[in-house]
Parts: sequence; C-alpha cells; structure tokens
Amino acid sequence: MSKNSIQIGFLGCGDMGGMLLEAALQAGILTTETVHVAERNADKRETLSSWGIDAVESAAELAGCDRIILAVRPQQFQSAAEELGDSEDSRLAISIMAGIGSDTIRESLGESTRVICCMPNAPVKIHAGVTALMPAQGSTDEDLRFASSLFDTIGSTEVLPESTLWAVTAVSGSGPGYISLVAEAMLQEAVQQGLDPTIARRMIARTIAGTGQLLVEHDDGPEALRMSVTTPGGTTEAGIRRMQELGLVEAVRSGIKAAHDRGESLADGNQ
Ligand SMILES: NC(=O)c1ccc[n+]([C@@H]2O[C@H](COP(=O)([O-])OP(=O)(O)OC[C@H]3O[C@@H](n4cnc5c(N)ncnc54)[C@H](OP(=O)(O)O)[C@@H]3O)[C@@H](O)[C@H]2O)c1
Repeated sequence: MSKNSIQIGFLGCGDMGGMLLEAALQAGILTTETVHVAERNADKRETLSSWGIDAVESAAELAGCDRIILAVRPQQFQSAAEELGDSEDSRLAISIMAGIGSDTIRESLGESTRVICCMPNAPVKIHAGVTALMPAQGSTDEDLRFASSLFDTIGSTEVLPESTLWAVTAVSGSGPGYISLVAEAMLQEAVQQGLDPTIARRMIARTIAGTGQLLVEHDDGPEALRMSVTTPGGTTEAGIRRMQELGLVEAVRSGIKAAHDRGESLADGNQ
C-alpha cells in the first residue's frame, strides 16, 4: 500500500458501498490506485479487481488506510471491526451503518478515530438521494469536505449534529416509505375510478417526482406550492379538505414521531 497519497478503504462493498464507490470513481473523487476494498463476497471481489481495484477478503488488510468507509451491515460491524483492529493513529472513519453512533465506532476502532456518521436514503440509488453528514467531535473541516464530495456524487448532502440522527432517520431515511404509501393509496383509488393500473402507476410516479422537483427548485416551501395549485372551490381544495378532515396531517406527524421513537428504542438495544 503506497503511503505517498491518501489511501481509502471500503469495509464492505455491497449494494450501498458498491454504488457509492462506483459513483465516486466515475466523478473522479476517488481513483482506483488509492482505493482498497475488503469484501467477503468472492464474486464482488472479482468484479472490483477487474476495475483495477485492490480487493481483499479480510478487513485486516485495510489497517494502513487513512480513511475507511464503513459499509457493512450494522450487525456485521463488531466482527468486521475486530478483523480490522483498533489503532492509535488518528484515521478517519466514514460510516453509512444505520443506527451505529460515533461512540461505538471509536470504542471499536480506537479513541483517536475521527468519525463522520452518514445517513443516506434510498434515492441515492439513482443519484437523487439526500445524505445527512453528522461529524463527531474530532473530525476536521477537511474530513467533512471529503465526505461531502463523496456523497455529493449520489445526490445532495446536509450537515447536521449527530444528536439529530433519529430525526434524520425518521424524516429523510424513512421518507421514501411514507411517500410510497401515499402512492399506493393514490393508485388504489385511481383504479377504483376506472384508470388503467399501468398508466395510473406511471402518472402517479411522475406526479410525485415532478412535485418533488418543484419543491426542490422553488424555495418557498410546501405550503406555498399547495396554495399555488389550489383554486378556491375547485377539485384540489375538495380533495385536500377531505384528507384534512380524516386527519392526514396528524397521521403523518404522528408516524414520523413513531419512527423517531423506534430508532431510539432500537439504539437502546430493544428489538
Ligand atoms: N441499502 C440502503 O438503502 C441503505 C440506506 C441507508 C444506510 N444503509 C446502510 O448501508 C450499510 C450497507 O448496506 P447494504 O445494503 O449495502 O448491505 P450489503 O449489500 O449486505 O453489503 C454489505 C457487504 O459487506 C460484506 N461484509 C460483511 N462483513 C464483512 C467483513 N467482515 N469483511 C468484508 N466484507 C464484509 C457483506 O458480505 P456478505 O454478503 O457475505 O455478508 C456484503 O457484501 C448498512 O449498514 C446499512 O445500514 C443502507
């Protein structure tokens, strides 16, 4: 492993790690010469090797890396960390593992480890996600710049304190699930109203994607957009009024709170 340049290790290179690695290589944020991947799966190692990447089976071989991306599943972390070993060196660990805090990572990899916890959401798969970057004590501006450049290749990033982990998880992490539930309800009623299911599915998906894009591009917020598409006495107003009468707003807020509380409970070791 050359020490003339910063060496990057990926601990686990499955769906999420592989997608992040590929996007960062394509964007030129990472280069095949400086990336090392520890991956148990032989087929994945073969693919990575064919790209010119140093792909190894054991995490122990990442010990010399300056920056390590932790991309194994949360329940795989402890054994992977034991293989990697702790270090007195101040290396950077960027974690995408859901629900594992910086304290746990430092305990396993060494107290001087500079940790940034990251929470990407599902649309990163089409490079349209949002990733919350939560730098822990000790990480530097340069560390954060590097993490931002990495996750900007798969969508957008927001920097937040680690104390917001469960709020972030409940809002942007679980958000694609809530929006999918709304899409399901819209589809059920569209079919009930006589629309062809395949066409209705496409129309609903495009409606949600287009509305999301409007919300992204116009900075006035969701209330302003709702007002701009709601004519007094019109169809949208009638639909929204009925949804409000049935408690849609309270249901969404209460659901997000339940997701937040579930996250805290899981972190406390409850199943
Ligand atoms: N997928 C998402 O939408 C999403 C969203 C937000 C956050 N995340 C987080 O991203 C992380 C990765 O998720 P994923 O969906 O990419 O999981 P995944 O596809 O299972 O990838 C993990 C990979 O790491 C390998 N691995 C496990 N232990 C290892 C070890 N000791 N040494 C080397 N390789 C090892 C696994 O091999 P085996 O298959 O042999 O176990 C697997 O190929 C998770 O912590 C998850 O919480 C995922």
